[in-house]
Amino acid sequence: MSAEIFDKVRGVQSEIEAAQPQTMEELEQFRIKYLGSKNIIKPLFGEIRNIDNERKKEFGQLVNTVKEVAEAKYEALKARLESAAEEAAASDLDLSAPGEPLELGSRHPIAITMNRIVKIFERIGFVVADDREIEDDWHNFTSMNTPEDHPARDMQDTFYLKDSTELLLRTHTSPVQARVMTRQKPPIRIIAPGRVYRNETISARSHCQFHQVEGLYVDENVSFADLKQTLLYFAREMFGPDAKIRLRPSFFPFTEPSAEMDVYLGTATEKDYRLTKGTGWLEILGCGMVDPNTLEACGIDSEKYTGFAFGMGIERQALRLYDIGDIRLFFENDVRFLKQFASAF
Ligand code: DAH
Repeated sequence: MSAEIFDKVRGVQSEIEAAQPQTMEELEQFRIKYLGSKNIIKPLFGEIRNIDNERKKEFGQLVNTVKEVAEAKYEALKARLESAAEEAAASDLDLSAPGEPLELGSRHPIAITMNRIVKIFERIGFVVADDREIEDDWHNFTSMNTPEDHPARDMQDTFYLKDSTELLLRTHTSPVQARVMTRQKPPIRIIAPGRVYRNETISARSHCQFHQVEGLYVDENVSFADLKQTLLYFAREMFGPDAKIRLRPSFFPFTEPSAEMDVYLGTATEKDYRLTKGTGWLEILGCGMVDPNTLEACGIDSEKYTGFAFGMGIERQALRLYDIGDIRLFFENDVRFLKQFASAF
């Protein structure tokens, strides 16, 4: 009796060894037969009760071996069939086929406009000063001659960082003036481009994030005439040799006197109510002579030095340059919009 059962088990083993599955489907049949939940090896273990006592151990080992042979064969066949499938796929690869075209990105229209502004000022000796977007109260307001409780703080509705009255998202690029003046002695001639934030309702003309370029020139004998000539030079480089500018008296806490500058863009734009309110004049910046309080707050002797400063918005100039009607397009990141701008800058 024992001998017969031993033969049966050995028969299963030879059957496994002889099996030659050629496809994944045949391999799956193999797996179900020898390793699946209803495989034919399992019941062989039960036969042990019919084996003479002295041969039980030998029988158990034999059935185990059969099981192991089935497992090893399955793994080996699986690996072989899989790599054959990969090779077949690879041989379909046509190395002479033309490649997939790579989509080239392009610069953002705000970046193009900003770079253009920076280049214009670099040509007359201004250097770029880059600084943080998370500012402290002192640099953003106090050093800019806007102490706590000063009503001028209301001109810039501010995002404070959670649980902080000290840290905020800068509301303008003017704090870069203080950053530079506190670490560098005159002559100072910098341009500071960057992003700023205000708690404003988003509309076609305003957004809670936008970009500015700040300018600062501090030296002995810097005058309002220098400011005006520098800005006229800028307007002509930016908008063409016929551009006209006008300065309107205004108020900023950190400049005295202060002005706002408009650029006249020609009769055609008088019809453009959105951008010029029907006047043809586009307001682009605030400027003035640096207030002595600001110079002193930053450790610069206001008896010896004077300076001018200006801060301009970039979005409005970009709207004009590209004839775009809505500021929100700049921030929506729609590639159909963004890929229309090519630039050498
Ligand atoms: N920081 C001002 C603003 O965001 C703009 C400005 C006005 C900057 C006058 C200046 C300046 O440097 O002199 O409204």
